[in-house]
Amino acid sequence: MAASAPVASNSNVMDMVKSFATQTDDFLRRFLANVHDAPPLLMESISYSLFGPGKRIRPALAMLSCRAVGGDVTLALPAAAALEFIHCFSLVHDDLPAMDNDDLRRGRPTNHKVYGDAVAILAGDAMNTMAFELLATQVPDPVLAVRLIRELGIATGAAGMIGGQVLDTCYPAEKSRGTQGSLEHLQHIHRMKTGALINAACRMGALSGGASDTDLQTIDALGRAVGLAFQIVDDVLDATSTAENLGKKAGKDAAIGKLTYPTLLGLDKSREHLAQQVQIARDMAERLGPLAEPLAQLVVELAQRDH
Ligand code: IPE
Ligand code: IPE
Ligand code: MG
Ligand code: MG
Ligand code: MG
Repeated sequence: MAASAPVASNSNVMDMVKSFATQTDDFLRRFLANVHDAPPLLMESISYSLFGPGKRIRPALAMLSCRAVGGDVTLALPAAAALEFIHCFSLVHDDLPAMDNDDLRRGRPTNHKVYGDAVAILAGDAMNTMAFELLATQVPDPVLAVRLIRELGIATGAAGMIGGQVLDTCYPAEKSRGTQGSLEHLQHIHRMKTGALINAACRMGALSGGASDTDLQTIDALGRAVGLAFQIVDDVLDATSTAENLGKKAGKDAAIGKLTYPTLLGLDKSREHLAQQVQIARDMAERLGPLAEPLAQLVVELAQRDH
């Protein structure tokens, strides 16, 4: 799709998301087809989680951020594919018995329920390393490749998603020892465990599109707001929706004592905080100009999503 394609409505932006998802999946399939000599069981476990019916939000954010700074959306495809690799690795590990211990993901049994804990752990490990291999081999400009690898490495690692998962996983035990949750700690966890990768999606998309320093700063502010907003919605849906609708277990956060927006602030205040973050993101999109309109529309869709 050309960068200048007109966008008139939110239904159009969801059509774009669908098209980006297909393009990202095709890119991932081509990449996997060139992996030789890997155990078939490992590749099957990876494909099971990678091509499950997810929303492909991070690829869409990358491609629309690329467009927002004037790039053709296809320039962001390697970033989109690498981000989905990391995201799927995070989901497979998040569901493990030692973490959230979930049986259902994307409407199907979780990876470890099908392939066992050992293969699930290793499939997650392989997706983590493949993301970086993909960027190193599929981004034609080596300077851009290194820049994207740096962004993704920081967002995924100890001070990003993985660090956030540690804080999230440790909180129920801390709480049982009497620690009171604070809004500051909650935001810190959410910005790390989910926000870091969402912001990386926006930043990597913008970098792929050749963003100026000023536009990158604006995208960063947008990405931070979307990242927090995305996890607020995830928390609210856990408290208000059903497994049938979400394709994953609902009501689990409160049951196991997670620190979330609804458990700390209640639903009304959670929605107020969500609205604030959405407003920040929309303001930033407006600053970027008309090419960022679909990105702004996607932000609204994400805030209103029901799964
Ligand atoms: C779920 O992410 C985990 C979080 C970081 C909140 P998504 O809601 O993007 O999951 P999929 O990819 O659509 O399954
Ligand atoms: C997950 O947060 C964050 C990740 C890095 C995967 P959650 O544990 O709330 O995600 P779901 O609700 O299981 O998808
Ligand atoms: Mg979790
Ligand atoms: Mg979970
Ligand atoms: Mg959740």
